[in-house]
Amino acid sequence: MTNSAFPLSRPRRNRHDDFTRRMVTEHRLHVDDLIWPIFVCEGEKQCQKVTSMPGVERVSLDMLVEHVRPAVELGIPAVAIFPITPVELRDAEGNEAVNPDNLMCRAARVLKAAFPKLGLIGDVALDPYTDHGHDGLIQDGYVMNDESVELLRLLALNQANAGIDIIAPSDMMDGRVKAIRETLDANGKVTTRIMAYTAKYASAFYGPFRDALGSGGLLTGDKKTYQMDPANTDEAMREVEQDLREGADMIMVKPGMPYLDIIRRVRERFEVPTFAYQVSGEYAMMMAAIQNGWLERDRTIMESLIAFKRAGCNGILTYFALDAARLIRGSN
Ligand code: PBG
Repeated sequence: MTNSAFPLSRPRRNRHDDFTRRMVTEHRLHVDDLIWPIFVCEGEKQCQKVTSMPGVERVSLDMLVEHVRPAVELGIPAVAIFPITPVELRDAEGNEAVNPDNLMCRAARVLKAAFPKLGLIGDVALDPYTDHGHDGLIQDGYVMNDESVELLRLLALNQANAGIDIIAPSDMMDGRVKAIRETLDANGKVTTRIMAYTAKYASAFYGPFRDALGSGGLLTGDKKTYQMDPANTDEAMREVEQDLREGADMIMVKPGMPYLDIIRRVRERFEVPTFAYQVSGEYAMMMAAIQNGWLERDRTIMESLIAFKRAGCNGILTYFALDAARLIRGSN
């Protein structure tokens, strides 16, 4: 008995069983999509937990190779290194940033020697090195743009010299991409890539990261005069346009999940390699719910990451990179 009131087309047929669902799936998360942010600290045999980021650790350089080895074995293409600079090495100008033997540079050398094919991403901003926790130089409470950019040039070159493959300016100063590109090229670093934190919002979701870095307690005021207003989207398009004109090879949107609309717009309009950073606060809120038994771990991780692919990302910086790679490889 057919009833003409029923539809001929039934979307549920393609959801009927696992093999059909796999056949019609539109997006897949691959290990190549994952970038793992890691925290390094001074000292020996250090593997310190970050309270607000359960499962995330700060490791000393003697432990670093073993810490990163699983990522390499799983096939994760790149890690993003973040150094925890001891307070005694921080100052108002962030001078430690340009020390060729700073923690970041030493970490890069250790990793390059152990894993020559692993991509190394270096965050370029002054906040890990300043005693005020801001990303640039301060005068009368204002983060100065052009003066900060002069330092960021040197910071980027310092990292490139230490073996960082991809420079990732996260400072949001105007004109930094052009300045860094010029400096890299003038010093023979023509293949060093730039992944610009282009649409980086002044977000509450960076809180746990600042705890991890030890810069949260130091920060005076907020970063609203240089990071973007969460209410804006046209402005992000102008930022992308400018960073591409200045020589950015890859574009990043940050944070991730609350800004999927920005990713989609960037992708559709510019058709360039687009990345997202699923930041510390996103990780923290999911982990808190997972640890409480309120969310299912594996499904939550994978659903949160496929959303980035759907929105148009080429890749995602995520603290879940290892977990996701294991789930993809079926080794969890
Ligand atoms: C540094 C920087 C920040 C993050 C990445 N690079 C913090 C900030 O801008 O205050 C945040 C990453 C995260 O929350 O996971 N400028």
